[in-house]
Amino acid sequence: MHNLFDDLNPPQRRLMGPGPVDADPRVLNAMSMPLLGQFDPAFTSYMNEVMVLYRQLLRTENRWTFLIDGTARAGIEAALVSLISPGDRVLVPIFGRFGHLAAEIATRCGADVRTIEVEWGRVFEPSQVIAAIREHRPQIVSVVHGDTSTTMAQPLAEIGAACREEDVLLHVDATATISGIDMRVDEWQIDVLTAGLQKCLSGPPGCAPITFNERVEARVLERKHIEQGIRPAGFEAATGMIIASNYFDLTMLMDYWSESRLNHHTEATSMLYAARECARIALQEGLEERFARHARASRAVCAGLDAMGLVRFGDQAHKMANVTGVEIPSGVTGDAVRSMMLEDFGIEIGTSFGPLAGRIWRIGTMGYACRKENVMVCLMALEAALCAHGYRPPPGEGVAAALSAWNEPDA
Ligand SMILES: Cc1ncc(COP(=O)(O)O)c(C=O)c1O
Repeated sequence: MHNLFDDLNPPQRRLMGPGPVDADPRVLNAMSMPLLGQFDPAFTSYMNEVMVLYRQLLRTENRWTFLIDGTARAGIEAALVSLISPGDRVLVPIFGRFGHLAAEIATRCGADVRTIEVEWGRVFEPSQVIAAIREHRPQIVSVVHGDTSTTMAQPLAEIGAACREEDVLLHVDATATISGIDMRVDEWQIDVLTAGLQKCLSGPPGCAPITFNERVEARVLERKHIEQGIRPAGFEAATGMIIASNYFDLTMLMDYWSESRLNHHTEATSMLYAARECARIALQEGLEERFARHARASRAVCAGLDAMGLVRFGDQAHKMANVTGVEIPSGVTGDAVRSMMLEDFGIEIGTSFGPLAGRIWRIGTMGYACRKENVMVCLMALEAALCAHGYRPPPGEGVAAALSAWNEPDA
């Protein structure tokens, strides 16, 4: 007898944590389309369309704009393992958990990793990063745009300009901000940017958009290699050290995503359909309108929390628009409130990690989940759960304040 378990029947939730968040039904629909062979001309056209769509989304002219199969950290690994030769110096400014992640990945790639840190809840003054670049003289800087662990967003334009001036390559992890907060790859002189679908793009986790410019292309081509077995006659590998990962070797992925269509992995067909639909939805809405919608939701969540007498976490001048951190009032058990919101209201919000574990909740308003009714229902549920756990906000004031903040004209 086999144990077949029940049919899949996941509970209906509103995913309003730091991600993953609710997928847009159009994306789920796209994922149910028939599979195609990866060299089917219909499929390779979809690959080309994805490249065009993500160039527009990221406001870049970069030819190399495609997808890495795997969750967002697959994109980070692809960028770093392809760029870092053992011994290269990499500077990572850390203002939350995901800076630590980049430093760890760079360490695994054999880099001489230098870090600078600020307290969680703050970001760097660009001058601090620029001073560290001058002190450590790295080949690469890897920085997170919005670190969901702290809900803070690092301004990037000045760091980009300094990296270019010092001839340093800049990697940006935009997993948590792509299509939710303004991002200008070319204008801000970002050399390589990696992201994910599962936050403001409202897709499932499992695909990492990447874009990189000619500076990165030149660096990785110094290590170009092609698998024996598919190597064209006469091919000579570059003299640089072979990239330590086959799966994440950007030089082989470039062959796969260009006219030569040199075989690599089997493309994750349904994820590509998802990524394509995510980008179409964002561009159809319009980037400026999308950023404004996330800012509106942030304004409403903040007004609601304030009216409930709660304390927002961190440096509010650098708060991410798509996720809000709020301190757990003393005497309240954060996880008990979260469980009640999940079990009694079907709403998921997040806690955090490391120094912030049990200290803050994180409320995400991202992509498809970034809607007026979601903000209101979430605040109502939070109020009810707080009352049940010993904290009594002024009744109804959170939602009333959030509603009027949402309805205010945008600045
Ligand atoms: C800023 C940032 N970087 C990287 C990641 C890691 O992404 P994944 O879990 O998809 O590998 C996350 C996930 O929350 C994130 O918020």
